[in-house]
Amino acid sequence: MRPTATHATAAGAVRPQPVLGTGPQRLEGREKVTGTARYATEQPHNPPDCAYAWPVPATVAAGRITGVDTSAALALPGTLAVLTPDDAPRVAEGDDPILTVLQDHEVPHRGWFVALAVADSLENARAAAAAVRVSYQARPADVELRADHPDAFVPDSANGHPGRRERGDAPEAYAAAPVRVETAYTIPPLHNHPMEPHSSYARWDGDHLTVYDSSQGAHWVRSALAKLFALAPEQITVVSEHVGGGFGSKGTPRPHVVLAAMAARHTGRPVKLALPRRQMAEVVGYRSPTLHTLKLGADRDGTLLSVEHEMTAQTSRIKDFVEHGAVAARVMYAVPHSLTTHRAVRLDVPSPSWMRAPGEAPSMYALESAMDELATELGMDPIELRLRNEPVTEPDSGLPFSSRHLTECLREGARRFGWHHRDPRPGVRREGDLLTGTGVAAATYPVLCDASSASATARPDGGYTVRVDATDIGTGARTVLAQVAADALGVPLDAVRIEIGSTRLPYGPLAGGSAGTASWGWAVHDACTALTSRLAGHRGPLPDGGLTAESDTTEAAGAKPAFARHAFGAHFAEVQVDTVSGEVRVRRLLGVYAAGRILNSRTARSQFIGGMTMGLGMALTEHSTADPVLGGFAERDLASYHVPAHADVPDIDAHWVDETDTHLGPLGAKGIGEIGITGTPAAVGNAVHHALGVRLRDLPLTPDKVL
Ligand code: MOS
Repeated sequence: MRPTATHATAAGAVRPQPVLGTGPQRLEGREKVTGTARYATEQPHNPPDCAYAWPVPATVAAGRITGVDTSAALALPGTLAVLTPDDAPRVAEGDDPILTVLQDHEVPHRGWFVALAVADSLENARAAAAAVRVSYQARPADVELRADHPDAFVPDSANGHPGRRERGDAPEAYAAAPVRVETAYTIPPLHNHPMEPHSSYARWDGDHLTVYDSSQGAHWVRSALAKLFALAPEQITVVSEHVGGGFGSKGTPRPHVVLAAMAARHTGRPVKLALPRRQMAEVVGYRSPTLHTLKLGADRDGTLLSVEHEMTAQTSRIKDFVEHGAVAARVMYAVPHSLTTHRAVRLDVPSPSWMRAPGEAPSMYALESAMDELATELGMDPIELRLRNEPVTEPDSGLPFSSRHLTECLREGARRFGWHHRDPRPGVRREGDLLTGTGVAAATYPVLCDASSASATARPDGGYTVRVDATDIGTGARTVLAQVAADALGVPLDAVRIEIGSTRLPYGPLAGGSAGTASWGWAVHDACTALTSRLAGHRGPLPDGGLTAESDTTEAAGAKPAFARHAFGAHFAEVQVDTVSGEVRVRRLLGVYAAGRILNSRTARSQFIGGMTMGLGMALTEHSTADPVLGGFAERDLASYHVPAHADVPDIDAHWVDETDTHLGPLGAKGIGEIGITGTPAAVGNAVHHALGVRLRDLPLTPDKVL
């Protein structure tokens, strides 16, 4: 291949086959299935002096450490050190209180790390940790979330959303409404449980800290470590090249990375710290349990007159993280009177955090279940009820939608699902012990986009290198970004080499908020477009280092949008309920989405059905139990925390309507990582009601609740 000829193609001489919207396989697929993709604590492979760290979690529900006896642990073979609150390296106060570990004697919740054993092998570290004796002065712990808790408060902000929003007079409109539904739902604590537990490898070379961390954003980890260890960002390198899932729990840095860096500094050796799954429940975040009450008032023709949604969530004693689980009504339906309120209670519990579709997942479960109850009360088809209340502008802000197409999703879904053959009467489809039902729910998730930068280089060998600190947490981000680059450069996909997952690369934001592809992709698009222009103006062979163009979308992506921007969708479920065992099984699940331009049909489908599978788990099997006596959570492995397995997910299908939205970035893409979990639990719950004729309002719908 002659370099100049290839780069002439980039300038637009011959357009190759389109690469956006097609379904190329993951670029790193072969490495992943052959085990050569390196995850955080596999990379680099065990250097000869590598040490291993094992944390010691608090065993009381709340209290104070009165002493840490390390003598037995230090006497064991291979122990290098035991860090305690008395002698661990001091760190500065950062932005997140969960990261200031081993700095004082307070125990805000069970599972909080109170010591760290470091040894020459994993086995020795575990044995040393078990030999550490910690004494406590325990205090009574309050871990029970109740709506009538005397300490409940309405925060100004629930994760950046107004704590309370009021339009009109919803209570008055409700009192006067001809048709009224008042209902309540509960959602238990839920845990993210990615396949790859949180883990870090840390090494100091003089004053330079290198960390391989299983994270959704290397730059975020770097800024947190820089603050804590009082270093300039350039003194830290964070690598997150391959990440085995996160679902939000790796969206913010976690204490293990701080402990690994502390231990490496203290021992002068590289240190690996891979959290055992049984320690994760209390230190990597979880979705707060939420209690919901809703009141819907409507006219007899189904026109909504009022919506009230009040949600109560819990947070910890050390940090206010308030799940924004009442936001859906601000987006979904036209209604003149609306009141949405978030409440929170500080308890002796681990700090809750981000979990796939934070806010939207619980709020859509509650709202879409209540809409189904209203449809039943009205004797109206639940799809018709939603179509009847389609808004022209976003109800809360009054802004026009950049695009919506919920109607199209509901209609297309109904057609594909065979909704029109449905007998609306509940509890009538019986075969032997089995009752069958179908349900529908709408889905939504906001379009988020963050500033990013990227660089694109035309190499003298005829290929291209694109660099951006994006993170591929299993989504296919690496592949999609290579597609974006190939498209902007006008070259085939295999001409692009993509480098992601390191702070050595141009700044990229988190893989979070379903914003990754749109954010990094915008910067990649801009860098490649700029490179194309540079190449067009370039004469003769390329210099040795090639030609490079850089981009930064700070200004463009940061502009305040004049439109309400959300993805929408419709979920359909068919369930069978065994009236003898109480087991609910999903037979069919369908999602139809309007999510802007779909850039990779293969990985997009995976994201959609992955979200729906997680929604199925939220509906039927997943829950964590706060232990009222011991504190923390009772479920601490995948044998007790039931994520859906293959046999639980028989027939699951995802489609999308063609949507062109010119009010997004240059890719026209909305996020797709989270919308699948919003609406799915309500669709399943509504199907269970249709099957049984009985409304169950406390997730998950396990056999004990069905019987
Ligand atoms: Mo996701 S919960 O926005 O990482």
